[in-house]
Amino acid sequence: MDHKKKTAAEKAAEYVEDGMVVGLGTGSTAYYSIKKLGEMVANGLFIKAVTTSHATEKLAGSLNIPMFSVDEVAGIDLLIDGVDEIDKNFNAIKGGGGALFREKLIARLSKRIIWIMDDSKYVDALGGFPLPVEILPFGHTHTLKKLHRMALNPSLRLKDEEPFITDNGNYIIDLHLQKPVAAEELIRKLDSVTGVLEHGLFLNMCERIIIGKNEGVEVLENKAFIPK
Ligand code: 5RP
Repeated sequence: MDHKKKTAAEKAAEYVEDGMVVGLGTGSTAYYSIKKLGEMVANGLFIKAVTTSHATEKLAGSLNIPMFSVDEVAGIDLLIDGVDEIDKNFNAIKGGGGALFREKLIARLSKRIIWIMDDSKYVDALGGFPLPVEILPFGHTHTLKKLHRMALNPSLRLKDEEPFITDNGNYIIDLHLQKPVAAEELIRKLDSVTGVLEHGLFLNMCERIIIGKNEGVEVLENKAFIPK
């Protein structure tokens, strides 16, 4: 059991209110918030959940959390999800688990977002964690070459020596970048590559972050956050 992740995740569940449409994130930190919400649902909380991955859908289903597809809801009240890295300006890298496309789509539909993490994820500058990018399998060798030519140090993510396949049937390329990452410039570069479908940079999207520490949690509010 990861105590820091668990305490941050359980704290985030306190922000969930009866009747909310809740986005459920993906990964080992989000796992604990979903487990907590499962307990709360068993004790009478009513929520409509929208999931960010097949793995989360399976977990939420096993806990009898009522689930809806993203197309069945008008919007999402609150998303709780993990991050791979986040800086003091609330800019994050996500997608270590390969779920970044759905995570970003759900994040964009969410009125409020809480990112949850252990204290190792809160960094002075982004770039220590490779930046995941979801790409189309069609023409992927050319997409990989193009990212090489842009000096972005790409590597195709593998699983059992085969390309890792996302829930959307696509591939992931991880970019091994220098710290600090020039995020805006990098996004412009990635947007110019046709085979790139989405990247794992989530800039200033959350309302607050909850950091699990040895002793309790730290909640940091994003003053620049404007609710949708
Ligand atoms: C999955 C993600 C996860 O939120 C991120 O990788 C953090 O995972 P964990 O909580 O297991 O460290 O973006 O695509």
